[in-house]
Amino acid sequence: MNTIQNQEDYFHLPLSKAELSPSPFAQFSTWFSQAKTKGELEPTAMTLATVDKNYIVSARMVLLKSFDENGFTFFTNYLSLKAKQLEQVPHASVVFWWPKCQRQVRISGAVALASDKESDTYFKQRTKESQIAAIVSKQSAVIANRQALIEKYEQMMKQDGELKRPDFWGGYVLKPNQFEFWQGREHRLHDRFLYSLNQDTWEIVQLSP
Ligand SMILES: Cc1cc2nc3c(=O)[nH]c(=O)nc-3n(C[C@H](O)[C@H](O)[C@H](O)COP(=O)(O)O)c2cc1C
Repeated sequence: MNTIQNQEDYFHLPLSKAELSPSPFAQFSTWFSQAKTKGELEPTAMTLATVDKNYIVSARMVLLKSFDENGFTFFTNYLSLKAKQLEQVPHASVVFWWPKCQRQVRISGAVALASDKESDTYFKQRTKESQIAAIVSKQSAVIANRQALIEKYEQMMKQDGELKRPDFWGGYVLKPNQFEFWQGREHRLHDRFLYSLNQDTWEIVQLSP
């Protein structure tokens, strides 16, 4: 068996209830800005966990594209595995890991489709290459090899004019009912705070590491 040594000790500043924002969205916003300032490689990258009606769980990375009090938005293919799972069970959990800050944030809640307008707006902002990649890839379908994919891509690259968002591609919005903020501390005695939505109020408790 290979054993893995983690050489990092966690030395960062404490996180106390007094300095937490009453709003988990504001708290997330502060940590997200600090992750960017600290130069995290992919601060928007988050692991998205979904489940189907037979309790088969699946997790993968996606990129956070926007967030506000209405939810956390990411974009994907509506025929992918994650989309099929979300259709069956419209709940998910995402996890951010910002190693330079030694911080983890977990968020869970209900997931709904983003509006067509929101998906169109974001699709228009993408580069032509990214738009075509979204159009030509039947995400999560089995393919024999890359050849057909590349041919379709190159054919579309030759075409002029604006590309339309395909109806099988767009956004999802995760509307949080829980957030957990985790700050790495010395001796593995980390700080954890859980925000849970109770009616319209966010309640905050501290958890043992
Ligand atoms: C850092 C990173 C970011 C990614 N971002 C996205 C994304 O925003 N949307 C997406 O559909 N796939 C993204 N992917 C690919 C997914 O992890 C995954 O392979 C794909 O969405 C298919 O997942 P599924 O078969 O579970 O639906 C990303 C992968 C990595 C490593």
